[in-house]
Amino acid sequence: MLSISGYVPVYLTRDEERIYNGELGWVFEKAMRVVVKIGDIMGADRLVPIDHAHISGVGYANIGEAGLSLLRDLYSGGARFSVYTTANPGSVDEYSASYFSYGDRFISGQKEILEIFRGMGVRAFTCTPYYYREPRAGEILAWAESNAVLMANSIYGARSNRESGLLALFEAIIGRTYRGGLIRSENRVPQIVFRIEARPRNIVEYGVAGLIVGEISGDRIPYIDGISFKRHEDIKAFLAAAGSSGGMGMILIEGVSPEARGIAGRIDIKSLETISIEDKDLRRVSEDLECGDVDAALIGCPHASQEIVEELARMISERGVRASKPVWIFTSPHVYEDLARRGVVDTLTSKGVKIFTGICGVISPLNSLGYRCIATPSAKAAFYLPKLAGVRFIYMDLPEIVEKMFK
Ligand code: F3S
Repeated sequence: MLSISGYVPVYLTRDEERIYNGELGWVFEKAMRVVVKIGDIMGADRLVPIDHAHISGVGYANIGEAGLSLLRDLYSGGARFSVYTTANPGSVDEYSASYFSYGDRFISGQKEILEIFRGMGVRAFTCTPYYYREPRAGEILAWAESNAVLMANSIYGARSNRESGLLALFEAIIGRTYRGGLIRSENRVPQIVFRIEARPRNIVEYGVAGLIVGEISGDRIPYIDGISFKRHEDIKAFLAAAGSSGGMGMILIEGVSPEARGIAGRIDIKSLETISIEDKDLRRVSEDLECGDVDAALIGCPHASQEIVEELARMISERGVRASKPVWIFTSPHVYEDLARRGVVDTLTSKGVKIFTGICGVISPLNSLGYRCIATPSAKAAFYLPKLAGVRFIYMDLPEIVEKMFK
């Protein structure tokens, strides 16, 4: 149906219309109406089924009493996920609450949020859902965590818009997303080019390169030429940082992204704004950081991979050192289980390292516990720690953490 203004509403099947009209109850109706409304705004023609939803906004520190109250209403109204669904971590869980003791209300509020999400059907709490269930090329997702969206679109060749936490929750309920934005091939093309002349030396510098790309690109999809990654963790650090300072949902990296292959034959790359990033740009971002005595080191934003945890365990074993200050690793439950099976968790904990599973160290008021300065190799953590945790930061790569935080 075409209206006078040329506006074409999102087409709904008969089943979708029934949900839209409230035949399955108010929760499904609300979820459907919100997704359709966003689809309208995004110029979508219809809805499409999704294979996996991933929800953000799980921390009590983020959503507070208002968010919890909305979740309670939705849950008691019958909200259940109709597709495979994972969610970001909260701030504390029952195992970490005695260590990060943010107060009774904070802890009980967080516990209730996690229980509600579990009841709705969340299978795992992690910000690296791609380690839990690797997306396949071409698969349609409704993901809300920026690092995960960037990994899905840019590395795995799956398709997801960069959703808000609430929208992903509604999409998980109805099992559909709108066919607009990054779901459509014509929107998955570069809008700005970065030539990376710099040679990042470690995860910190890959992250800083990502921060620069994100800040300059804003919502535009960048095409990255000239960067080489030594390992998966470097790509993850780069994309996570870009997704923090920028609003894009996809980055096309030459030699890495499936959809970057042959792009020069399809798009006039030369006509796009082109930015060069040099070594001096990477150094400039971290050179003036200062925060006095380091209180703790934070590894695992996004949640640490097996690779990086094993690397740390190897370094401290070789040196025969023990943590002299708090050193925290945040990872996802299934990565933890694998590490535990292979004895890596025992190696680290016997050396004084704390390993937390399924929680996030960044979205909590660390300053309320007396922490002032946190060392981290993660540019994404660095971006958010002052804003969300109220603490200052300095960058430290793994070898530097081992040198300065262990004796
Ligand atoms: Fe994950 Fe928390 Fe960082 S949710 S990406 S560890 S800010």
